[in-house]
Amino acid sequence: MKKITIAIDGFSSCGKSTMAKALAKRIGYIYIDSGAMYRAATLYAIRHHLIDEEDIKEEELQSSLTDVKVSFTIEPESGKQLTCLNGEVVEDQIRSMEVSSKVSRISALPYVREAITNQLQAMGKEKGIVMDGRDIGTTVFPDAELKVFLTASAEIRAQRRYDELKEKGEKDINFDEILQNVKERDHLDMTREVSPLRQAPDAVVLDNSHLTHDEQDAWLLEQYLRAASE
Ligand code: DC
Repeated sequence: MKKITIAIDGFSSCGKSTMAKALAKRIGYIYIDSGAMYRAATLYAIRHHLIDEEDIKEEELQSSLTDVKVSFTIEPESGKQLTCLNGEVVEDQIRSMEVSSKVSRISALPYVREAITNQLQAMGKEKGIVMDGRDIGTTVFPDAELKVFLTASAEIRAQRRYDELKEKGEKDINFDEILQNVKERDHLDMTREVSPLRQAPDAVVLDNSHLTHDEQDAWLLEQYLRAASE
């Protein structure tokens, strides 16, 4: 079985990371959450007051991008992969509503995309990775042997995010607000100028609106076995 690159793209809150992580664990590949990189860059911009509701201090952001070092660590007790920003674990902070509502504006900036794309390509140069995001099969790894495009209805995705936030104990959550955020992000992700969310022509599509985790994991494993043995 040859070592391949697996790109999983799709809309926000479709369960890409759950699916990607489960496959990576099963086949012994490295999992990389590219959205976490954009989220960490957004958290950095918020903390350094480089973004507010209206404006982004673009010059300052661009020149400080070299200070944004994102890495991943494994929590020993749970085996969970955690995102670090300059060495600090920021896994919960990058999933907050504040970051979620600003990340599309940061990830639409061409120089942010370029910096993160370069880092992602370096992480995947040995293959043996499962990476999820929006432009992995189109821009980051256009030669990936397996490309998956995952989709689910906006309402189902909003419900999943609502449940996730609730489980984490986040207080002020409102379903309609989350649904609105999901739709806004879909729109921004699809209409931005650089690397918009697009299905790669050679991607296999899965709508998981009504699938269980086991069903989608089995489907993905089958796709992997086919692609790795070709
Ligand atoms: O997958 P996610 O919701 O954690 O991603 C957060 C944001 O980052 C999302 O609004 C789109 C952006 N993103 C991107 O533009 N390109 C990627 N490869 C991954 C995420």
